[in-house]
Amino acid sequence: MKTQLSEHYDLTPSLEKAEATRDIWQKMSRVVPFSDWAIYAPYVIAIQGLKKERNAYILAHNYMTPEIYHGIADFVGDSLQLAIKATEVEEEVIVQCGVHFMAETSKILNPAKTVLIPDAEAGCSLAESITAEGVAEMRAKYPGAPVVSYVNTTAEVKAASDICCTSSNAVQIVDAMEGDTVIMTPDQYLAQNVARESKKNVVYWPGSCIVHELYTAEDLQAYRELDPDVKIIAHPECTPDVVAASDFSGSTSGILDWVHTHKPAKAMLLTECSMAANISDELPEVEFAKPCNMCPYMKKITLEKVLWSLHSMEGAVEVDAALIDDARASVERMIALSKTLAG
Ligand code: 13P
Ligand code: SF4
Repeated sequence: MKTQLSEHYDLTPSLEKAEATRDIWQKMSRVVPFSDWAIYAPYVIAIQGLKKERNAYILAHNYMTPEIYHGIADFVGDSLQLAIKATEVEEEVIVQCGVHFMAETSKILNPAKTVLIPDAEAGCSLAESITAEGVAEMRAKYPGAPVVSYVNTTAEVKAASDICCTSSNAVQIVDAMEGDTVIMTPDQYLAQNVARESKKNVVYWPGSCIVHELYTAEDLQAYRELDPDVKIIAHPECTPDVVAASDFSGSTSGILDWVHTHKPAKAMLLTECSMAANISDELPEVEFAKPCNMCPYMKKITLEKVLWSLHSMEGAVEVDAALIDDARASVERMIALSKTLAG
């Protein structure tokens, strides 16, 4: 890939290009050495040029690395924000810097666009944990109960569900369902965290996120003993005992907003490592404590692969025509309900 790209673009590390894009580097200067920026800058410049040529728009998740998040993205956000933005993009091409289910969601919501995923192997342990048969199994076990599926699912599962949710609206969506029992798929921990706040009887599929399930309440206790002042913020894909022991829990954007608003002297973000890296320069007064965990799927997206996808136009996501309308209905119901509930 690199050799082929080098025939078309000058990708040699360049201090001159790094200087010319110093304003971008300054958004990540605490976490990316200027010498590394000299390696990234030629890619960023090439991608910015090609983006115009291809009439492309880059949607990036909050877990992208700083050089993607600050260097090339047109819009950054959590899953819900990315889905809503996908409905509004006017450019012909969307490059999804995130995982496959996010690209699929963009295609479902804006099917006339070419949606490129820079690495088709960028999966998700939650999306891989359930199929439409799994949804049918749950329906058979709990007849009449509505199915709320996390957006971290394939189009097939979305199509088999009544409505989707994300971590930022799950409690409200579940509470808005009819009946006493609500089926949530596929994240058992998100479901249990929702159940603590919801008035419904929440039953769930036993999937989990391989990144967030690694945090334990015992570790948290140990960190608090070491540093009683640290504020611990957990994504709701963490286990319920971890979320219960944290100071705040929210979606990736909810976490970023909380840290911006509260500006704690020391924060520990129990989520993907790039989250703290991306806001380090905006919040110099906050010290971000380790640990964090890497999502091996999100980290498959690199500047080189983004440049390749825009250059080759390979990696276009397609959704089965038999599924797309039903999948869209589940996501659109979520977006409409979220907007109504937000007032
Ligand atoms: P958010 O909707 O909070 O961005 O979460 C997406 C995700 O995959 C977290 O692991
Ligand atoms: Fe999936 Fe977890 Fe990675 Fe998010 S962090 S994309 S839920 S594996």
